Amino acid sequence: MVSYKELGLVNSKEIFKKAIAGKYAIPAFNFNNMEQMQSIIQACVETGSPVILQVSSGARKYANQTLLRYMAQGAVEYARELGKNIPIVLHLDHGDSFELCKSCIDMGFSSVMIDGSHLSYEDNVALTRKVVEYAHQHDVTVEGELGVLAGVEDEVSAEHHTYTEPAQVEDFVKRTGVDSLAISIGTSHGANKFKPEQCTRDAQGILVPPPLRFDILEEIEKRIPGFPIVLHGASSVPQEYVATINKYGGAMKDAIGIPEEQLRKAATSAVCKINIDSDGRLAMTAAVREVFASKPAEFDPRKYLGPARDELKKLYMHKVNNVLGSAGKA
Ligand code: G3H
Ligand code: 13P
Ligand code: ZN
Repeated sequence: MVSYKELGLVNSKEIFKKAIAGKYAIPAFNFNNMEQMQSIIQACVETGSPVILQVSSGARKYANQTLLRYMAQGAVEYARELGKNIPIVLHLDHGDSFELCKSCIDMGFSSVMIDGSHLSYEDNVALTRKVVEYAHQHDVTVEGELGVLAGVEDEVSAEHHTYTEPAQVEDFVKRTGVDSLAISIGTSHGANKFKPEQCTRDAQGILVPPPLRFDILEEIEKRIPGFPIVLHGASSVPQEYVATINKYGGAMKDAIGIPEEQLRKAATSAVCKINIDSDGRLAMTAAVREVFASKPAEFDPRKYLGPARDELKKLYMHKVNNVLGSAGKA
């Protein structure tokens, strides 16, 4: 049993409280490898932002959970070395069982998500409650989810959104004891969040997706005032990355994300954690493809992963400065 406190990590309690009061959101960036971790920490140290390092089940399988834990521990030291002691949370993204959450808590995670959103309401309550009971014994914070996002969540995929039912949130929060709640108001995972036929076109002919359901968010906020809300599936899918990927041999079709103004607006509400993974994947892929195409003789991984890391850092700094508003809040 390792406590996250020994590793210099923090849980999400205090940073969420400050984010709601200060009307900004904390970035939750997924990481699977060293370059992603380095760019997240560099960007958040330079902008002075608190950060949530997220590990999915897929990341655990890909990189090994022990290595990821040590990388997060290293991230704390690395941030100090770069000159700033920013709050760093190590969070399990989309935990799907009590055993997985327990294993993460026991090895030093400071926060876990138990995603029972695909279960019946009562089973979601029971599973989430069980995780909360264990997590709180160790001062680990827990994120639950109500409502189902369209798209793919690990192995589970849903064709359509099931928006969060505001009438359920008060009961869910009270009975489970969760510390934050992920909701479904029109975001979804991945790079293809909307079909072109769901969008309209602006004066420049650019596709504009349907707006998020801020009416549902407001209804939820009325029922659980000041309670930390989480937005998953919040990548904006920058079209310049999609264009670069396609220019250099990629084949990404109809890649559409959540407009940044919508996320800026959400960040000023009780939404205090915004999850971004796909945008980072696009940034890395665009940078790597560009190196491969323009320097075909290059075969040193540092020569393509290095530019990918630089591009990621630029993206994360932009998110923190211009979308989430968490710069300078560390
Ligand atoms: O919500 C899903 C995250 O983007 C993690 O994706 O399960 O492919 O690691 P992954
Ligand atoms: P995106 O696929 O929109 O980046 O969402 C990531 C996410 O929600 C991770 O849990
Ligand atoms: Zn998610």
